Amino acid sequence: MANPDAALDALPDPQVRALLGRLHREADRQEKSVYLKFLDQLPRLALGRAIPWERFGHRLDDKFICLDRSQGVFCYLLARALGARRIVEFGTSFGVSTIYLALAVRENGGGRVIGTERVPAKAARARQHLREAGLLELVEIREGDATETLRDLEGPVDLLLCDGFPPAMLPVLKLVAPHIRPGGAVVSDNVGAFWADHSDFLAWVRDPANGFQSAMLAMNEGTELSVKVGAAASAGAAGQGAVACAS
Ligand SMILES: C[S@@+](CC[C@H](N)C(=O)[O-])C[C@H]1O[C@@H](n2cnc3c(N)ncnc32)[C@H](O)[C@@H]1O
Repeated sequence: MANPDAALDALPDPQVRALLGRLHREADRQEKSVYLKFLDQLPRLALGRAIPWERFGHRLDDKFICLDRSQGVFCYLLARALGARRIVEFGTSFGVSTIYLALAVRENGGGRVIGTERVPAKAARARQHLREAGLLELVEIREGDATETLRDLEGPVDLLLCDGFPPAMLPVLKLVAPHIRPGGAVVSDNVGAFWADHSDFLAWVRDPANGFQSAMLAMNEGTELSVKVGAAASAGAAGQGAVACAS
């Protein structure tokens, strides 16, 4: 079987690669128990109905439920292409995605990743992992509900990773969107897996009137990539450029 950690070879720091490999393997081992938590929700999912996250979410309080390796490397490379110095993350969990984002910010010359997490024990463990990665000084994790903790945000934001539970996805996007610079981007996880829970979010971000161009990419059952369009976007202002090759 192919080595799943091969995707991490794109990352320039061996210490960070080793840590991410270890954390992803731990997350992989939790996967079955995460599926079991959703067992009683299968009828809702099959019928295309939303999950009652306010009652359900706490079942995942000890789970990584992190981006997979490809998504993490995608976020890292996107942040590098954008030359991102200020990144906001909705849903930090144990800090796996935050490590990819903070590494990109460090490689871009420094800046800030603002993470958010409603479970204090998860935020504490995320800080531990970021310290181990040597990236903690670039990260601030705001504890509590992101719809409150992100109210006093400073811009410009280069990249938003939207990876919290569905009920707050659109409220958080609406809070952060005005701070996202033209040409900046939003990566939103789980929108394909929980389609019904994200219908309002997708309708909003895909409505050109709200300033984004947006489409779902075939990563982890469907990951939305949205780019804020505007004058500076077409001028290709702050990014470093990227190459995409498809077979
Ligand atoms: C899918 S996990 C995030 C995984 C993380 N981005 C990673 O890849 O390592 C979602 C996290 O968002 C947190 N969360 C959900 N709703 C939230 C809210 N309204 N405010 C802050 N955190 C929230 C959950 O506690 C959970 O840890």
